[in-house]
Amino acid sequence: MKNFYRKFQIVSKLPLWTSYLHRVYRDAIQDATKLKAQDALSDKPNFTCLLCGVSGEITAREYLNFVLEIKPKCKIIVIDLGQDQVNSVRQLVKREFPKANIEVKQANALNLNFIGDKSIDWIDTDGFFSFFTEQTLLELFKEWKRILKKDGFITFRELTSDGIVSSLANKLRDRASQVYMGIKLNLHTTNELYRDFEKVKFKFNRNSSPIPLLDRYCLVNT
Ligand SMILES: C[S@@+](CC[C@H](N)C(=O)[O-])C[C@H]1O[C@@H](n2cnc3c(N)ncnc32)[C@H](O)[C@@H]1O
Repeated sequence: MKNFYRKFQIVSKLPLWTSYLHRVYRDAIQDATKLKAQDALSDKPNFTCLLCGVSGEITAREYLNFVLEIKPKCKIIVIDLGQDQVNSVRQLVKREFPKANIEVKQANALNLNFIGDKSIDWIDTDGFFSFFTEQTLLELFKEWKRILKKDGFITFRELTSDGIVSSLANKLRDRASQVYMGIKLNLHTTNELYRDFEKVKFKFNRNSSPIPLLDRYCLVNT
């Protein structure tokens, strides 16, 4: 994961990356509102968000600014498995968000035992599922289900194989990741995701994002 932090900065430092993030966060809230996720737009004092797997301070800054603008009183938890990612976000929070209610923790998303049952309103992540096998991805959805409030929502962007073009793009992405970062990705099909959503009883919608083939999803806990 050390390698990941260093090398992903080439992507996240592109100005286009931050405008992409801003756009998808805005769309995420609209998607949740359409699915009638509870209080997606309100600013209740106990509204709690989880940014689950963050590549570092650039994504974190964009997410924190976005959420605190629409929900100034909320609590935000940021987690990642990588020590470098967590350190960089801790420094960012100390420097730029000293008064906000933000917790940054090094944690495995498969075991979020420091987060209580039904305590989270919004989980967001991006390009995260390739770190999970078919079996552990279902475990991840179950863990998210445990911590989500009823009508809480999850938003993410993901490239899943759904035909020749997306399968090929996924294979190329895996190849590039192996060569450039030394990380072998787990590739998932769209049908596999749909089966998982059914197993954990999430209603969902799927739309396109500004990056071709990288779809944006919104899931609501029922
Ligand atoms: C693709 S990145 C997220 C990138 C994100 N879209 C961004 O813009 O910052 C994935 C991150 O997930 C983290 N990660 C991988 N497996 C994890 C796990 N089981 N629990 C928590 N974080 C994990 C990696 O350390 C990495 O920083």
